Formats: sequence, C-alpha cells, structure tokens
Amino acid sequence: MRKLLSTSLLLIASGLWAVAQEVPQVANVMARQTTSLNGAWNYIVDVQEEGYYDYRMNPTRWGFFINAKPQRPEDLIEYDFDKNPTLQVPGDWNTQDERLFFYEGTVWYKKSFDFHPQEGRRTLLYFGAVNYDAHVYVNGRKAGHHIGGFTPFNFDVTDLIKDGENVVIVKVDNKRHAEAVPTQIFDWWNYGGITRDVCLISVEPLYIENYKLLLDKTVPAKKGVRQLHFSVKLNKAEAGKTVTLRIPELKVSQQVMTADDGTASISLKAKPQLWSPETPILYKVEIQLGQETLKDEIGFRTIETRGKQILLNGQPIFLKGISIHEEKPNGGGRANSTEDAHTLLSWAKELGCNYVRLAHYPHNEYAIREAERMGMLVWSEIPCYWTIAWKNPDTYANAERQLTDMILRDQNRANIIIWSVANETPHSPERDVFLSKLAKHARQLDDSRLISMAMEVTSASNYHNKLQDNMNEYVDVVSFNQYIGWYRDVNDAPKMSWEIPYEKPVIISEFGGGARYGLHGEKNQRWTEEFQENLYKENTAMLDKIEGLAGTTPWILKDFRSPRRVLTGIQDYYNRKGLFSDKGEKKKAFYVLKDWYATK
Ligand code: GCU
Repeated sequence: MRKLLSTSLLLIASGLWAVAQEVPQVANVMARQTTSLNGAWNYIVDVQEEGYYDYRMNPTRWGFFINAKPQRPEDLIEYDFDKNPTLQVPGDWNTQDERLFFYEGTVWYKKSFDFHPQEGRRTLLYFGAVNYDAHVYVNGRKAGHHIGGFTPFNFDVTDLIKDGENVVIVKVDNKRHAEAVPTQIFDWWNYGGITRDVCLISVEPLYIENYKLLLDKTVPAKKGVRQLHFSVKLNKAEAGKTVTLRIPELKVSQQVMTADDGTASISLKAKPQLWSPETPILYKVEIQLGQETLKDEIGFRTIETRGKQILLNGQPIFLKGISIHEEKPNGGGRANSTEDAHTLLSWAKELGCNYVRLAHYPHNEYAIREAERMGMLVWSEIPCYWTIAWKNPDTYANAERQLTDMILRDQNRANIIIWSVANETPHSPERDVFLSKLAKHARQLDDSRLISMAMEVTSASNYHNKLQDNMNEYVDVVSFNQYIGWYRDVNDAPKMSWEIPYEKPVIISEFGGGARYGLHGEKNQRWTEEFQENLYKENTAMLDKIEGLAGTTPWILKDFRSPRRVLTGIQDYYNRKGLFSDKGEKKKAFYVLKDWYATK
C-alpha cells in the first residue's frame, strides 16, 4: 500500500458506513427548501487522475474524495484542497483559469459547509448541470455518478450528510469520447466544470417529485372555457395521498388522490387568457402535499400543426427566430443566470424575434424561464450532434436519459413548443432506428408539443435542392440547415429551387455566414460585414420562395467560441457567424434580418 492512513480514514475508505442513491430529477427546484452550495470551491487539476486511480489504473479507495489530512507526523498525503485556489460555481473552468482555457480532463472540486439537517426530513444534493462526467462524494463517501453535461441530477444524501461541517467533492471530467453524447467533435467550446447551480434540497420523506399542468388541446374551447389537465407524481408509489392544486386567479382549487403508483391526474375547466409572445401571461399555481406547497408560474397555450402551418393557440404563426449558444453575452464562458439570458434574449427581441433555437443542448432553467416571461418561443434540443455512435446501446441510453431529463425539467414551460432530438446526423439504418426511438420516446413523454430535428439538404444539383430524410415521418416539423452562400453556391441563392416532399411545416433551422465585426470591403470579400449582409439579403429572398416555410433560426445571434475556428486575425477560436460580435456589437447583416422579420 502506497499511503499510510489512520483508522477513521480506513473506515471511510472502505465505504462500510452509509450509502446514497440517485433519485429521479425533482422538478421546480427553485420553489423548494434549498441551501445553496454555489460560490468558491477549491479545485485540483488532475491530468492523470491520480486522485481516482492507483498506479495500476485500478480505482483507488484512497482517492482525493477522502479529503484526507495527515493525522500523524509520518502520514503521507500528497494533496490538500484547502491549500488550492478556488473556482466559482456555477461556472466553467476554461474562462476562470487561463491555464485551463483549452483543458479537457479531470478537475476535482471541493466544498466545505455547515449544514443542519431537519429532523425527519430527507436531504437531496442537486446539480443543475456538470460537464461532462461527474463522480460525487459527500464526507468521503460516494453519492453517485452522472454523465451528460446539460441536464440536472440529484442524489438522496440523507445518510451521508452530517449535522455540522460537511464536505462535498466532485470529480469532473470533460474529456470527449466517441460513444458520448455529444460525441468527439462539435463546433462549440467544451466548457468544463460545475456549470450550473448546486444546492441541498430538504424534503419530507414523501414529496412531490414532478407534475404537469397544461391546456388539453384535444378539447375545443367553449366561450373561453377550456380544459386543463393536471398530473402529479410522488417520489414513492403510495396510494391515498391527497394533492391539492390551486390557481387562485382562475378560481381553481382541486384535490386529487394518488393511486398505488403514487400518481394522480385530473382534467378541470378554467378560463385562462392564453400565453403568446404578445401576451406572455403566467398564472400563479400552488401544488400542496401535506404541509409542503410548491409554487410555480405557468402559462397556457396550444401548439399544433395543420398541413404546412404551425398554429399557436389555433392561429398560424411564423417563427421569427435566431439560434443561440449558452454563452455569456460578452466574451465567453457558460451563461448560467437570468441576467445573462435577459441580455441575449433582448438582443433577439431587437431583431424582431418571437422565437429562439437554444442550440445544441438543453440550456439552463433560468434562460428558459426568462424567455417565457419575455414572450419568446423556444426550440430545445439534446446534443445528438453529427456522428453519434448509433450502434452503441449505452450511447442510446445516455441520449434517451438526456431527452427525458430535458422534458421533465421544462414540461411546464408554455414557451417551449419544439423538442429536437438531433442536429445534422448522417443517414444510416442505425441512425434511423436510434432517432426514431428518441422521437417516439419524446412523444410518449409529452404529446402536447411538436417534435423535430435539424436535418440536412440531401441533394443539390443544378441549383435544385432536395430534402429526403426517413425521419420525416417521426417529426411534426421538417427542419433543416442550409448554408447556401457560405459553404456552397456563393451568390447563387437567387437561382435555387426546393423540393421538400412532406406535407408538414418547414423550418430552416440554420443558415448564415461569417463576418469579422468591423472588417469592411466588397460584398464578395469573405469575412467582411458586407459579404455577410449580402448573404442575408440573398438568403431571405430565397427563403420567401420556399413553400410551407413556417419559420427560421439563422446561425447565429452572437459570435461564439469554438476550438474548430482557428483562422488567426479573423476567427481566433470564435465562430464568426454571429449577427452580434462576441462583444455585443451589431454587424450589418443584423439590420437585413430585422427588416425581413418586420415583413413577417
Ligand atoms: C452546423 C452546425 C453548427 C455549426 C455551424 C457552422 O450547421 O449545426 O453547430 O456551428 O454549422 O458551421 O458554423
């Protein structure tokens, strides 16, 4: 044995004491009794995972998760979190420590805090998101493991947490892998770290795990009276538990009784004003079980398609959108606050948008809720991006888990209208099986919204573009990316014709081109604002000719960091297709899109 340790550390290392377990995601954490663990966390950069494996690459029981301290003068401990600098949580490490700008690997995080658990209650440890692979320990013992960088997870740590000083340690690894989701290559910065909120949630042994309240689009309204559908799920399969739903402004107060599986549901009549971009009305909702009441703000609307139209509240709507990455408005780094979201969404509002595509992964809950308050419709997506390992069952399970968690977190948000299961994926029978299963799974979890994915133009010759994709039958909206004027056919947009043989609404989920803000020149000079401006003029005129076009989300609102963009003096590790620079400066193309949207 390479390390000399005292008995108590031996006991902890042997993990003989207590256990924890991952529990299904609890909804609406913001409304729960929480203790934030955000703030400064000590960190250790561990390139060779010395803190996890022994020198034979076997997982060691004496790892950094023990947070060992020398007990006797001869004890050999070769790390000390408390001597190490700190990183802010939530946040990525790449923009907080310049040595870690390009870093992909393991970083250990440690947080010490006082906590006094309440008698008879359970304690859950919640993470809004950790990119990518997280091993979580509480007081030296394993709480659990999670993979996936953009969805929440939580563990019941009641048996690990102590009354007094506690230590949470997280091993975070953002290395890319072929079988991961996303896979090895993607055109955005692989920000690593504990990128969203961390907190302890105090709950009763029996608590409301999740709920769904929405307008039932299958029942037509009568004089403004509509049918709402409410369902609730407890954390345990317990029958005979009373849950009360109250919507005071709608004079709704209803009780439901759980069945053997701990769920209950009810349909009820009410007369809500409908949520829409013009009127983003949210109603105060209370859901009570025993002494605990969860408060939420929920809007009611219907979304459906009719032929090639998208109908919001029964009315055709054109989705004037823009794509957005989850990056802070100025400079780089993961965005993770209402303020960040408000700034980005205000820029989209300036463009005249009523809709945003949050690419290519579920964005943080603050962004979704702020968009809902600002009247911004949302396309939300999981990172099944490019060449996913379609044949790998673990990859499928991972993708399905991310899809489930995205839907369970945001299913009560009125502004989310489209769940997207993929982006630009190469055609193959394995891909078709994988994505069709995901699309069916999404529909099974939530048949109140539209399902889609960002496809690609399948053939283009003689200026005739065709879209042929077997996935058309699994989606409600046929969406595809096209880069005419940038990756192909410069200045040929006016000559283009389209063949999209599906009786479904069409969304152009991406189009655009790059420009370095402040670089000016002839309109055929790449990277100038004039080139991008002209590309937008030609593309918007071309899009007007596409039959059944129901919306678009040009690529992209703001220049964003990407390790694939290495052209010095122009890109400098930024994708420059933004209509805003990375500092929030408007490029000329901004005004072209704004004017076009004003005609819609
Ligand atoms: C693709 C992809 C984006 C990427 C963009 C680009 O379509 O979906 O993630 O950033 O093209 O090339 O700029």
